[in-house]
Amino acid sequence: MKIAIDGPAGAGKSTVARAVAEKLHINYLDTGAMYRAAAYAMLEKGIEPERSQEVVQALPEMDMKVIYENGMQKVLIGGKDVTPFIRTPRISRGASDIAVIPELRLKLVELQREVADEYDVVMDGRDIGTYVLPDADFKFFITASPRERAKRRYLEMKDTDPNADLDEIEREIIARDKTDSTRKFAPLCQAPDALLVDTTEMSREQVIKLVAERVSGEK
Ligand code: C5P
Repeated sequence: MKIAIDGPAGAGKSTVARAVAEKLHINYLDTGAMYRAAAYAMLEKGIEPERSQEVVQALPEMDMKVIYENGMQKVLIGGKDVTPFIRTPRISRGASDIAVIPELRLKLVELQREVADEYDVVMDGRDIGTYVLPDADFKFFITASPRERAKRRYLEMKDTDPNADLDEIEREIIARDKTDSTRKFAPLCQAPDALLVDTTEMSREQVIKLVAERVSGEK
């Protein structure tokens, strides 16, 4: 069983993907975490993610592994778990910048397909239904208006970051959407056979129910 969940930043894909994977007792692969970890790895080496030549040169040394511990995904770089360090605005922007580099994408897509070959999986990202798993059993494209996505991010961030600013988050989300959907190689777009789910007016529970029912054949 392969399930592809794509969509723009902050649409709630990971929450839905994780919940559906739990219901089905299968693995969840957050591919965004891999692009984030790659940006982190380059920044640690002093390489800016948008400097594609330098990134490509450093790629052979980038040792990335995805492991599962107690059902939780971890991304290791050179054996170190970088998962706690990749949810910052700097890394979000860096992940989007590094994700335009075809050589980098090909390396990560290879790892993603290895996971799909080995396990049943719910995978979320930007190009899963269109490029990584074109033969997935189920495909969903989950989206919401930029303002709604920014509001959800803001609510998540405001307790830990007193400087969180709704307008700034919205601008950042719109900028990332633009980079992701206009890149040449495997851009963010809805696969023709994916079900479009606009969650602007939906609760998290409604989205999870809709996706789970579709997958289990109830609807
Ligand atoms: O999903 P998340 O926001 O963690 O992804 C971070 C960035 O990684 C995205 O903005 C996108 O540029 C990139 N990405 C991608 N393809 C994927 C998953 C993520 O290009 N399959």
